[in-house]
Amino acid sequence: MKILETNNLSKSFGGIKAINNLDFTLNQNEVRGVIGPNGSGKSTFFNLLTGIYKTDEGSRIFLNGENITNLETHLIVERGMARTFQLLRLFSEMTVLDNMMVGYHLHVKYGILSSIFGTRTTRAEEKRIREEMMELLVFIGLIDYAFMDATELSIGQRRLLSLGRAMAMQPKILLLDEPAAGLSPVNVDNLLKIIMSLRKRYSTTLVITEHILKVVMETCKTITVLDYGTKIAEGTPTEVKNDNKVINAYLGEELDDDQVLRELNS
Ligand SMILES: Nc1ncnc2c1ncn2[C@@H]1O[C@H](COP(=O)(O)OP(=O)(O)OP(=O)(O)O)[C@@H](O)[C@H]1O
Ligand SMILES: [Mg+2]
Repeated sequence: MKILETNNLSKSFGGIKAINNLDFTLNQNEVRGVIGPNGSGKSTFFNLLTGIYKTDEGSRIFLNGENITNLETHLIVERGMARTFQLLRLFSEMTVLDNMMVGYHLHVKYGILSSIFGTRTTRAEEKRIREEMMELLVFIGLIDYAFMDATELSIGQRRLLSLGRAMAMQPKILLLDEPAAGLSPVNVDNLLKIIMSLRKRYSTTLVITEHILKVVMETCKTITVLDYGTKIAEGTPTEVKNDNKVINAYLGEELDDDQVLRELNS
């Protein structure tokens, strides 16, 4: 069943078409990869889907059949689509648990700070939410850090927390923007395992952008390839990595032929 669709999605910055007439369809329970060289429009795509950037005229985004084009971000979260950011955006002055609580409250649309300090939710509700968040922290392996400041976490743990905080919004569709950026290979594998078990447990549909091609090649049945904001290929990992347009787009990244092939095959 189709849950997300874009028609003619476009976004220009001055003369640059960061996203160019993109038609994209996502089915429920899919794990979709979106790849493309630097600056090909992956993050812009997520920013348009989640209402952070306004689309160009003529663009349409449908979530479960509802036109959500240019709806405010919190209304899109409320309808079940959330994201993580390529550059980590955690609340560094807060504990790990409170970072998770913020995620949850974004979902239930209470004022963020008032709810954390208990003015709007009852103590019983707050306790229940706290327990749910603790359970999620167990799931992502951060329970031992619940009462530490987010600043005390390693990069790998911060990536996990940003994943946990997005999951706290209880999304039906989760957009992961380079979730493994900056991680060592061991941490990448650990993160992938956690992402896939979260998806199973909460029946979340995923869209993953990555530079580390291994991540999408291993986890996604279908991959969409962007180059200069245009969809140049879509298919299975094998189809995509043998596609000449894709190979040429990555060649443009100033890697030599061997490097390109190694990247695509890693
Ligand atoms: N806020 C902005 N203002 C101006 N130009 C922007 C803005 N955001 C993105 N762009 C431009 O849009 C194009 C696509 O950028 P985007 O960040 O979406 O690419 P990306 O595929 O996510 O790249 P990366 O792999 O480096 O994360 C680039 O040319 C970028 O410079
Ligand atoms: Mg990006």
